[in-house]
Amino acid sequence: MDTTKLKGRSLLTWLDYGEEEIRFILNTAKELKKERRGGEARQRFKGKSLALLFEKRSTRTRCAFETAFGEEGGHPVFLSIDDIQLGAKESVEDTAVVLGRMFDAIQFRGFKHTTLETLAVYSGVPVYNGLTDSFHPTQVLADLMTIEENFGTARGKTLCFVGDGRNNVARSLMVICAKMGVHFTIITPPALNPDPGLTALCTDMAERAGAELRITPDLGGVAGADALYTDVWASMGEEAKREERAALLRPYQVNQALMDRTGREDAVFLHCLPAVKGEEVAAEVIDGPQSRVWDEAENRKHTIKAVMLATLP
Ligand code: CP
Ligand code: NVA
Repeated sequence: MDTTKLKGRSLLTWLDYGEEEIRFILNTAKELKKERRGGEARQRFKGKSLALLFEKRSTRTRCAFETAFGEEGGHPVFLSIDDIQLGAKESVEDTAVVLGRMFDAIQFRGFKHTTLETLAVYSGVPVYNGLTDSFHPTQVLADLMTIEENFGTARGKTLCFVGDGRNNVARSLMVICAKMGVHFTIITPPALNPDPGLTALCTDMAERAGAELRITPDLGGVAGADALYTDVWASMGEEAKREERAALLRPYQVNQALMDRTGREDAVFLHCLPAVKGEEVAAEVIDGPQSRVWDEAENRKHTIKAVMLATLP
């Protein structure tokens, strides 16, 4: 694969990337994890600067970008929505042009996916999606890495997402699993099914990669799964829907009884975090022996560093 083709690219969703490219970035992340564990420090972002734009809160994503960039000699600059003009006193287009003149790359976490797309078009530098209402691509790269660390491979394994099937994490898992040949099941009430357009696209991609995409309200769908995954019932920005979601999703809590319905003692539990223990996941599962959530959180850093190393010119 010609890795120079990755240089200068943004990461808005994995739809824009090929299987080989994702494979290359994942392999890089594994090397970076080994280096970090071995205490190896390099200066691969020396002289570069990264703008970190946040309209929503973050622990993992911010810390992953900031430490990954800083420890390689780069200069990350955190800019919350309270600090800058983005879309308030200045258009997103104009802000993008200015940031593009000063920074080598931009990370954006926020509400509208179109804001991210506008930043990518007008800044002229790589733009990384740190989460929008629509997608959370850096998260699901870490999820795939965690599955591979556990099972040696993700291809041919079955990941089952239980919860809000239309949220940014479920949609992003749908895309990356389809690209990488991972069987993916979404178990969700029909009212929370992902949109038909993306579902059709991913069904087609999955078939071509030799994998199956299933969407069902039936909890029996966890049978045989290698990994169960869940996320909060109401995502950031959806606070007004909390009660409505809880009513719909209460039967879909991932508890030990549901883990046991996989029929697999070696099945693992994943969650992007932050979690609301006692809602989407029982404490016995997230704090139990099948949970891999802390590896998954750490892997955010290695995968994000790999994305930046691959794409920064
Ligand atoms: N998983 C994740 O994106 O966590 P933060 O919201 O803390 O960044
Ligand atoms: N779906 C969640 C993910 C948080 C990392 C949210 O958007 O709030």
